[in-house]
Amino acid sequence: MGISSHAVGIVGVGSAIPQGILTNKELETMVETSDEWIQTRTGIKERRIAAPGETTSVLAIKAAQKALEDAGVSSEQIDLIVVATATPDMIFPSTACLVQEAIGAKSSAAYDLTAGCSGFIYALSQAASSIAAGLSRCALVIGAETLSNITDWNDRNTCVLFGDGAGAVVLQRVEEGYGLQSFFLGADGSGGSYLTLPGGGSSSPASVATVANRLHYIKMSGNEVFKFAVRIMGDASLEALQRAGLTKECIDLFLPHQANIRIIEAAARRLDLSMDKVLVNVDRFGNTSAASIPLALVEAYEQNRLRKGSNLLMVGFGAGLTWGATVLRWSKEAS
Ligand code: ACO
Repeated sequence: MGISSHAVGIVGVGSAIPQGILTNKELETMVETSDEWIQTRTGIKERRIAAPGETTSVLAIKAAQKALEDAGVSSEQIDLIVVATATPDMIFPSTACLVQEAIGAKSSAAYDLTAGCSGFIYALSQAASSIAAGLSRCALVIGAETLSNITDWNDRNTCVLFGDGAGAVVLQRVEEGYGLQSFFLGADGSGGSYLTLPGGGSSSPASVATVANRLHYIKMSGNEVFKFAVRIMGDASLEALQRAGLTKECIDLFLPHQANIRIIEAAARRLDLSMDKVLVNVDRFGNTSAASIPLALVEAYEQNRLRKGSNLLMVGFGAGLTWGATVLRWSKEAS
């Protein structure tokens, strides 16, 4: 989809990460693994873990407040809040409604969206379309997760991978020629069983048995997800570029979902990108699912890597299975 009828772009960003750090060395004392295995197979050195009471909404609210401040926008101006998360504070009310109340965005609609690690790109497309169509003026899009709450700390196949965090952006109309240039979203439900959290829904309502069987934790066929990820990161990126009328050479900065350095490097090779054009922070945060791409964006912004007119390519994949890619022409002057 091209959304050129009205240019919509990101006018402010913010993030929040828990202070608690869990290193590979500490994981060695929890499951049969090694720092060497984790680093060579995933590129992860450490991840952030939320403290008790530091819920997904707590991180989302902090990230949102920073994004509003960065944008110079007041909470009253926000008329749409979309939170992408697989780890909401509770099933309902939505985490977006908790954010709405906490920041005082009294004129805002608010809802959560679940598309696994692709959630932030999905949410961005929804909010951008709403603004382009004239249904909203100013939106907050947040990717926020506390995956540590759904991680099975006895399962070495998954527990080394995940971390907690949140990133938020403020979306508004921007100058023509800038902002979001294209989206490519997709899903393949036939791969749904590769990445699941089976317990607590209507097929296995929470019970003593679901807890005993550890059904409230992530289950993953790592190898299947890996193969899918390597293929789709390249395919989705190229499709988003083509929809924006751009080629691989036009990419100034690549912001891929941070799941595994080997998946990121494979995508970079497919796009003929040298790694200095790729934002990597999986070493410090692990896989933070829907928070991963906005965390990478905030890091790029704070490192002064974004210039007005820079072409950013963001791409994610995740549970569903789902994928999402977008091209963003940065519209803010460098600070
Ligand atoms: N420490 C030591 N050994 C381990 C560990 C560990 N933490 N985890 C697995 N192993 C072992 C396995 O048991 C296996 O041993 P075996 O051969 O004796 O059976 C061996 O290491 C190799 O396992 P593989 O699965 O082949 O390892 P691989 O190189 O594929 O790496 C990984 C596994 C890192 C999980 C990889 O497949 C991957 O990154 N997959 C994608 C995961 C992902 O991106 N998930 C997205 C989640 S998104 C969301 O929505 C939450």
